[in-house]
Amino acid sequence: MRKPIRRAIFPVAGLGTRFLPATKAIPKEMLTIIDKPLIEYAVEEAISAGAEEIIFITSHTKPSIEKHFSEAPELEKRLKDSGKLELIKKIKPEKLRNITFTYINQPEPKGLGHAILLAESAVGSDAFSVLLPDDLFLSTPSCLQQILDSYSRNLQSTIAVNKIDKENIHKYGVIDPGNNKLDESNTVKISNIVEKPNAEDAPSDIAVAGRYIFNTSIFECIKKVEADSSGEIQITDAIKFLIEIEDVQAKIFEGDKYDCGSKEGYLDATIAVAMKDPYFSDKIKKIITDKL
Ligand code: G1P
Repeated sequence: MRKPIRRAIFPVAGLGTRFLPATKAIPKEMLTIIDKPLIEYAVEEAISAGAEEIIFITSHTKPSIEKHFSEAPELEKRLKDSGKLELIKKIKPEKLRNITFTYINQPEPKGLGHAILLAESAVGSDAFSVLLPDDLFLSTPSCLQQILDSYSRNLQSTIAVNKIDKENIHKYGVIDPGNNKLDESNTVKISNIVEKPNAEDAPSDIAVAGRYIFNTSIFECIKKVEADSSGEIQITDAIKFLIEIEDVQAKIFEGDKYDCGSKEGYLDATIAVAMKDPYFSDKIKKIITDKL
């Protein structure tokens, strides 16, 4: 049943207002965790799960993303001339070599559903993944690989979820598993889904994380969604329509997730990545303990 998911969609046209002034000139996805932009972590995750084409839904006001994934011949020559060959591997990673990067302009930030719909013709007839690079996952296998493993069992659209405490549940899409039971791989069929409910109205404590695998039937569902009060077409509302026509699964992933859309999450991620890095782990512990 195993089917590769060859295309990965990255909706990256948002304004990143929570990180102003940093995001005045730099897209939030280009903020770095140590020395690598957030977006590159997610691109690596997609590639290691089998993606061959990365489709960025971006804004013409954010040219640095395209620049980051393009050749840099002048810089490369200067590094070569000064014998810094190790650094050439960093600006031209081997794993990105045979990947196609496609850029689609989203003229206005009209929501995640709208962004995904813009990729319809680029996606063709195969299932595809969606990665929100704000969410950084540190796990082996990766979060995307885990939902791909679940998807491969029944070829039904599958989304990554995790348990969230009550005071934070209003920040996420929340699933209702109804009476459906988790299977042995911690995957459950979704009965309903709600975007950012108040804690009192949340149907469960299981929230949507930023990784999805969709069959192409999602596109027709997005077309049925009306914009919400803030003018956005939510993917959560399209998933509601999808549930009416076919089964949709949610997989509780294993591993750590960092919400780098928030300053706390971003700081937490930076420390976590440093702690896992053999060069930094002792140094970062010392830096923190010395300050206590
Ligand atoms: C989006 C989705 C939400 C999901 C979240 C995961 O929200 O709309 O359902 O839980 O990503 O990060 P956003 O963070 O873009 O507001």
